[in-house]
Order: sequence, then C-alpha cells, then structure tokens
Amino acid sequence: MKVTIVGAGAVGASCAEYIAIKDFASEVVLLDIKEGVAEGKAMDLMQCASLNGFDTRIVGSTNDYGKTAGSDIVVITSGIPRKPGMTREELIGINAGIVKTVSSSLLEHSPDAIVIVVSNPMDTMTYLVHKSTGLPRHRIIGMGGALDSARFKYRLAEALGAPISDVDGMVIGGHSDTGMVPLTSHATRNSLKVSEFLSAERLQQVAEDTKVGGATLTKLLGTSAWYAPGAAVSALVQAIACDQKKMFPCSALLQGEYGLDDLCIGVPVILGRGGIEKIVEIALSDAEKAKMAESAEGVSKTNALLDV
Ligand code: LAC
Repeated sequence: MKVTIVGAGAVGASCAEYIAIKDFASEVVLLDIKEGVAEGKAMDLMQCASLNGFDTRIVGSTNDYGKTAGSDIVVITSGIPRKPGMTREELIGINAGIVKTVSSSLLEHSPDAIVIVVSNPMDTMTYLVHKSTGLPRHRIIGMGGALDSARFKYRLAEALGAPISDVDGMVIGGHSDTGMVPLTSHATRNSLKVSEFLSAERLQQVAEDTKVGGATLTKLLGTSAWYAPGAAVSALVQAIACDQKKMFPCSALLQGEYGLDDLCIGVPVILGRGGIEKIVEIALSDAEKAKMAESAEGVSKTNALLDV
C-alpha cells in the first residue's frame, strides 16, 4: 500500500504522521514544491518510528513525481490555506490552478490511484479534479464531512457534558461556513437521540458552532487547522487501504442522488478498496432537504467560477 500526499504543509504532514502511527501502509511519499521541506518533514517523522513503533516508510520529495509512481491512494492538500476572516471560497483563484496541475502530474505516474482532495474550496476542487481528469466518480473523494462530523461530535459532547466516544453524528452538505448541514435530528448519545437531553436552542448552537468550526480555529491559530484535518484524511485513507467498508460523509460527484446533479457535495458514502463503493441515500426531513438544496446552490455558484 503506497500513499502519496502532495503538500507537506501542516495538514499534509499531520496526515502522514497519523497514517504512519496507524501503520497500515508500507510507504508514504510526501511531496512539496518548497525545496527540502518534504524531505525534512519525512526525515523528522521517520525519526519518530522507533519511538512510536511504526514501520511505514516515509519519503520526502521536492516536486519529483517519479517518486510517487505506483501509488494506490493520492491525497491533494496543496494550495494556500485561509487566513482569519477569509472564506474557503476566496482561495479558488490560486488553488484551482495548483490542484489541476497536481492531479494531472499524480495520475501520470499513478494512473490507477484513488484521489482524495483536501484543498479548499474543497467541494469545488473535487469537482475540478473530476472535470479535468475524467476519472470515474468512485475514484475521486473530497475530504470535508469526516472533519466536520468530528467537530460536530466534539460540540455535541461539550453540550452534553459527555465523553466524545458516547456521541455519534454526521454533517453532510458543502464544506463551508454556511453550507454544512449538521444532522442534529439524527445525532445520538448511546443510541438515544440527543434531542432527549438538549433543548432545540442548545442543539441549534451546536450546529452553528460546528459550521464555523474551521473559521474559529483559523481565528485562534492565524491559519487553517491541521490536526483534525490530518486525522480525518488518515481515517479515509485507512478505510480505503484496509477495505473497511466504513461510512463517512464525503464530497462525491452526484448524478441524481439527493435530487442533485453535476456537483460534488458531502453525502454519506461507503469507502472500501474501490474508493466510493456506494453513495448512501438517507431520508432527510423537509428542513434538512431545504438546507441541502441551499448548500448545493452555494457550491454550484463557486463551481461556476471554474474555468472548466
Ligand atoms: C478546515 C479546513 C481544512 O476546515 O478546511 O479546517
């Protein structure tokens, strides 16, 4: 199992670290355009191997795609992160060109790879990879919902005063401050609906805090977050690499599902060795349907800015 991560920034490096710690891949290639940075991070991470007990080989490369050849899974984190006050959508101008070039270079050397897109605005960048590569839709996966759901569970646990392992919940829709649709009516604590324990107002607050989860961190950190994004990507990579058939909300190209067509947006999918093995259609309430439609409209508006 060979995994390539393009972009050795904070998200890419933390993703490599989590993959290595979970020790299911034989090789992780970290690639960046900044001279020496990927090699340096790879070396630093390899010096954790004896301490953290992993055998995954991490290799760094300055823009040599030859080193990525034969990857089973490729992760695109490249581009610029947002600064405080910016929306993810504002990054489109710079990141679209980068994502297009990176995806074509990756596929030249790993024509059979499954592609995970992390760069923002993520749903639009996932759509761009579809349009520019023409790969079948099961091989292109946008990472957003797994992260947003982890943030949702954090906020639910906080509101409930419960350990995070007690709660479950999912966020679908676009990976944006306004487009996320936290499914509060489906969220549970030990199989009981959280609405048993939380008022409608408190649940609304949980949903709002979840939606601005990334923006809250960007304000605190001065740049975009990396630990939870890296962990979320590593969970998707593991589900594919280990053929786990796990369900995650991911950005997938829709062709009629949820009444939507020709856009990538977060919906529950089953991930296994084939990539997206199934798009799961769940029953949404009328309010959730309306939020999903609004979210899709926002994503389509951003997609329209692409030159594809
Ligand atoms: C975030 C970035 C990865 O939500 O979009 O932190």
